[in-house]
Amino acid sequence: MKIVHFSDPHAGGAAEDWLAYFDKRWVGVFNYRFRRRFRHDLRNLKKAVSYIIEERPDVVVCTGDLTSTGQPLEFDKVRPLLEPLRNSGIPVLFVPGNHDCYVTRPKCVKAVREMVGWLTNNDYTIDALPTVRYYGDIEFIIINTSAPSNLLCSWGFLTKATRNWLEDYCNKPKNCPRILVTHYPIVEHNHPIWRIRHRLFGAGPVKAMLEDKRLDLVLCGHVHKPYQQVDGSGRGESCAGSVTRNGTISELEYGTTNLRFIHRRISLN
Ligand SMILES: [Fe+2]
Ligand SMILES: [Fe+2]
Repeated sequence: MKIVHFSDPHAGGAAEDWLAYFDKRWVGVFNYRFRRRFRHDLRNLKKAVSYIIEERPDVVVCTGDLTSTGQPLEFDKVRPLLEPLRNSGIPVLFVPGNHDCYVTRPKCVKAVREMVGWLTNNDYTIDALPTVRYYGDIEFIIINTSAPSNLLCSWGFLTKATRNWLEDYCNKPKNCPRILVTHYPIVEHNHPIWRIRHRLFGAGPVKAMLEDKRLDLVLCGHVHKPYQQVDGSGRGESCAGSVTRNGTISELEYGTTNLRFIHRRISLN
């Protein structure tokens, strides 16, 4: 059973309408223009897709931040790069990142909704989350933690409804490993000051589920430097980092005889 996980390509561009200067998009456009576009190389996304198609894993997980400000033309930039993956027949599980859900402007909301349907080959919509899929005897719980937040913060929100859903679901007997797919990390050792602008509200109860093994593994993005905080059996949390910034993706293999997850970091260069 093989899983490939990538995250945070962060395609960007200019403000797409004058209202962008009156909402959070101006922060993201400014950030892209003077910082992100020098750091994120979309050619790495193309390489990631080629690698995946050659490897043919059982499932691909993409944990969001395809864009920088969630504008339609930014999604249009990644669509042709992801199209071969979408058409490969390999199932894709996608959750949007906070940058994909940047503002409440209707055309941006429409763009991210369309992308969830498009990339998953209409397997689910954003409204269907949380939802569960099974691949190779592994249970994938897919949740959305991204919603527009204030001007200077990149907060995520685990809503009460999602937390209650997770409690109900994860209290049921577990017959196979359970992987949580989320944009925001659940257990990353947050620096109390530096990470305050990037925190996920409401993660405490989910962290407890991971600790008492009601959940086996969290696959997340948002943090651009990849990391694995896993135990000897490969259970814990794995963040793929930004594919375009690091030129790396994560590959996981689950052994049905030794019941272990093996994590590998794949360099695309
Ligand atoms: Fe990101
Ligand atoms: Fe993010």
